[in-house]
Amino acid sequence: MALLEVEHLQVRYGKASALEDVSLQVGEGELVAVLGPNGAGKTTLLKAIARGLPSEGGLRLRGRSLHELPSHRAVAAGICLCPEGRRLFPELSVLKNLTLGAYLRTDPTEVASDLERVYGLFPVLRERARQVASTLSGGEQQMVAIGRALMGRPALLLLDEPSVGIAHRLKIQIFDAIAEIGRAGTAILLVEQDAVSALRIASRVYVLEHGRVVREGSAAQLEACDELRQIYLGV
Ligand SMILES: Nc1ncnc2c1ncn2[C@@H]1O[C@H](COP(=O)(O)OP(=O)(O)OP(=O)(O)O)[C@@H](O)[C@H]1O
Ligand SMILES: [Mg+2]
Repeated sequence: MALLEVEHLQVRYGKASALEDVSLQVGEGELVAVLGPNGAGKTTLLKAIARGLPSEGGLRLRGRSLHELPSHRAVAAGICLCPEGRRLFPELSVLKNLTLGAYLRTDPTEVASDLERVYGLFPVLRERARQVASTLSGGEQQMVAIGRALMGRPALLLLDEPSVGIAHRLKIQIFDAIAEIGRAGTAILLVEQDAVSALRIASRVYVLEHGRVVREGSAAQLEACDELRQIYLGV
């Protein structure tokens, strides 16, 4: 049984269909990427999995249906979303933003050890712990957003375009950290438009267009496909 099973998922905004019959799986500890152009439905997919949007079709975590679950229970079930555009609390400190990600946790020792883990992944955040989030660079804010999601100790981490608008050097650091999170055993569903960076760290890939999965396979298979290389890798 896969960790996450999505079957024939459909999402509508009013009369407009945003996802049409999307099926995908993420195994325990697997790092899976979703690629696709603007408006393909990538954010909609992550929101639906995190139960932030009503959807139809199968949605199961470790065999258990997520469908009846309201979004505030998704974190407790093991799903943490790091949203598009980061959505930090701009006036709160880095530390406060991070600890808010652990709001459901009750064991202070575990929370403290997860905070150390986040600082280990992103050492700059330790230096900036008392600084107000809005004063960080875009890349540093993205690190806080990923750190905050990790503080929920997810079984499945959903990342929505973590590299958008970030300087190249920080982008490499962020993708290295995502790979490290995956190696440590957290399953990740990574939505990206930067296909080169995503394929470097993902083992499998789904390509979404117009709300449908149009291609799926290993990262190596996708890189070997001339048509997709041209569209997504520009080579
Ligand atoms: N709240 C909403 N109300 C109505 N339509 C929406 C809403 N959110 C998204 N859509 C539409 O649903 C489709 C999918 O949007 P979505 O944001 O999921 O795409 P995306 O792949 O994440 O795009 P991007 O790469 O630009 O972030 C688009 O046509 C979009 O206009
Ligand atoms: Mg999006």
